[in-house]
Amino acid sequence: MNKEKVLELLKSVNYPGYSRDIISFGIIKDVLIEEKVINIELDIRTADEKMVKEIESVIIDKMQSSAPGYDIQLVNKPAPTAGQGSPKSKPDYLPNVKYKIAVASGKGGVGKSTVSVNLAVALAQLGLKVGLLDADIYGPSIPLMLGVDSKPEYDGKKLTPITKYGVNLMSLGFLMEGDDAVIWRGPLVTRAIQQLMQDVNWGELDFMIFDMPPGTGDAQLTLSQAITLDGALIVSTPQDVALIDAVKGVNMFRKVNVPILGIVENMSYFSCPHCGERTDIFSSGGVERECNRINVNLLAEIPLDVQIREGGDSGKPIVANIPENPRSKIFLEIAENISKSLS
Ligand SMILES: Nc1ncnc2c1ncn2[C@@H]1O[C@H](COP(=O)(O)OP(=O)(O)O)[C@@H](O)[C@H]1O
Ligand SMILES: [Mg+2]
Repeated sequence: MNKEKVLELLKSVNYPGYSRDIISFGIIKDVLIEEKVINIELDIRTADEKMVKEIESVIIDKMQSSAPGYDIQLVNKPAPTAGQGSPKSKPDYLPNVKYKIAVASGKGGVGKSTVSVNLAVALAQLGLKVGLLDADIYGPSIPLMLGVDSKPEYDGKKLTPITKYGVNLMSLGFLMEGDDAVIWRGPLVTRAIQQLMQDVNWGELDFMIFDMPPGTGDAQLTLSQAITLDGALIVSTPQDVALIDAVKGVNMFRKVNVPILGIVENMSYFSCPHCGERTDIFSSGGVERECNRINVNLLAEIPLDVQIREGGDSGKPIVANIPENPRSKIFLEIAENISKSLS
């Protein structure tokens, strides 16, 4: 038995509930063999103790069956990520924010900003202090969706977020001139977002919601690491293409050890405003099946709905404008669910 042989064996062990192996997840840090003892150093950064136990037990099972006669010792030493002392300690950028949540999607146009805005308003309606950071480099749209047309004030040191419907907002759009299309590279995006975290008077917040740039490329990955997130919520439509991208999004966050809070299926079905009949425009059940396969919660199904669309276009999000609407209730349930699952 040598280190290479052990790594080869571990390469055949999949991350629990997942079709990729644990080596490619980067959780094996080192292997040291001393006579009849195999010491495996792990780097599992999830705060989920159950997941850590599960990973450890699949490793033990594999090693005991493939290397009989050896004693297997595991030690988990999660490496601190950028700006963090340990995975659970608060990062420097936003020390006064309890939970940082990314709303992400593999592709654009699936309703990521719509979900971010309505979720933020819903959390505020639950009495929580909420920040919303529009980090979508490709199309910062949150100011429009919240009906904000002013720019934040600058006191020479810091920017003050704009408050609307109880949500404190900052947007990359505030830093761009007009409709300039900006080509952002990973490090530049990260620096801009760091500024929106550090150089803004956020005050004490329970939640910070990040409307992330769509996609799963370098820019998104770098950003996800820099923000040191507490969880990610993935938005997908039921169409196959969107779903494939959603799974890529799940992969990306797992790679950097960010817990997946769940998938929100948006534009899930159409319910007729006249007769109430439900039509599954993009077929149905696909997202749920995929969620089961990759072991992720299906948080909600949001229908294709004209009032949701109008709310976005008019700067009056449905949750703020018509809180008693059944659609608004769905967003409120997501908010309750998330705040319960984190606290
Ligand atoms: N559930 C929905 N019902 C109707 N229209 C929606 C719904 N979700 C989003 N939209 C509309 O679809 C468009 C794209 O949504 P948006 O949130 O901007 O997507 P993304 O941020 O993923 O690019 C917007 O015009 C928005 O109002
Ligand atoms: Mg958007």
